[in-house]
Amino acid sequence: MAVKEKTVVIGVTGSISAYKAADLASRFTQVGFRVEVIMTEEAVQFITPLTFRNITGRPVVTTMWDLASEFSVEHVALAEAADIVLIAPATANIIAKIASGIADDMLTCTVLATKAPVVIAPAMNDNMWANEITQENVTRLKKRGFSFVGPGYGRLASGKMGLGRLTDLDEIYGVTLQVLGKKKGDLAGKKIVVTAGGTQEAVDPVRCLTNHSSGKMGYAIAIAARNRGAIVTLISGPTALPKPAGIKFVDVKSAEDMLKAVQEATKKADALIMAAAVADFRPAKPSSTKIKRVDIKDLTLYMEKTPDILGQVKGDFIRVGFAAESDDVVNNAVDKVKRKGLDLIVANDITEKDCGFGTDTNRVTIIDSKGKTEELPLLPKSEVADRILDRVGTLLKKR
Ligand code: CTP
Repeated sequence: MAVKEKTVVIGVTGSISAYKAADLASRFTQVGFRVEVIMTEEAVQFITPLTFRNITGRPVVTTMWDLASEFSVEHVALAEAADIVLIAPATANIIAKIASGIADDMLTCTVLATKAPVVIAPAMNDNMWANEITQENVTRLKKRGFSFVGPGYGRLASGKMGLGRLTDLDEIYGVTLQVLGKKKGDLAGKKIVVTAGGTQEAVDPVRCLTNHSSGKMGYAIAIAARNRGAIVTLISGPTALPKPAGIKFVDVKSAEDMLKAVQEATKKADALIMAAAVADFRPAKPSSTKIKRVDIKDLTLYMEKTPDILGQVKGDFIRVGFAAESDDVVNNAVDKVKRKGLDLIVANDITEKDCGFGTDTNRVTIIDSKGKTEELPLLPKSEVADRILDRVGTLLKKR
């Protein structure tokens, strides 16, 4: 989904965590959203409008009565302009006002008048959050289609630990994009299973054989699919990457674990995208106890083949494979499309600079079941992910 023409209205209310909203405004601005910030009177006590103005490059709305503001004439202009409204941080007070239909400032007017989805990230004292009044308000708003993210558990303004903190910003950002995708994305409602990362094959209880996959390409595909509205399951080997928000996450270690997880997840899938670097061989007889260095002079491991997940998983869904090659890239990939009965294969030359394992960019060739090739230039992995999903989207429409 192109975010360039999208508008996010960020409502900031009076909480000590209001400064974190500046980071959120920055994230949305950096990926190309038009970001309009509305601050309540209380929010202005915690952080200045100037901060948001400089981050977003847009005037910040703090009152309905500023005659010079382009929004004051038409007090619901932002409600109409919004593709999504995010209230972060949201106090108990703003939640209560919205739940009661009160519209006595620019933020509450905008929320009451908008047809865009609204995401609320609460931040308050733990007793205020736990209070039945707040909980009833939250339930009422959820029933009316409002989305909530958080609050999180941790140190509160009072100094004690409890549930009420503004939740992790990655989570708020991810869930907001997911909610927008469900409403406007071209893959809305499609069930997409993505695998990522390298597998680990046990040698003994402390040692394993693995590969250099960072998981970045698969994670980028899972995140892009979520942002386009898909219901995503990400099956991942061990990686150093954070779990993306709004995605069903299944962590696995070996090729055998991954096979089982893929079989389970694809029972109702529309597409399977296998970006994982699955081990092709594993020690045939892993030792149940640690192999001791003093006991042996040298070690020979007898290896057996792992199951070919893509080749053997059954079902009526679009199948996309990856081919990380070091020579004769296109011919090897064309052969794999046929051998594994794929709809598409994404081939890349792992010997090229800036491509393949661990990098943030990739240069790939997408090949279809008839052997037709589409060569893409060097792109960030997030853009490669969108180009692959464009092709998956086209195939899904044809079904
Ligand atoms: N794959 C799989 N199961 C395996 C090995 C690979 O599902 N045991 C998937 C990968 O996730 C990838 C595609 O098959 O999407 C191609 O992987 P690759 O390792 O390039 O192909 P192989 O069939 O293993 O062939 P080779 O290693 O001989 O090139």
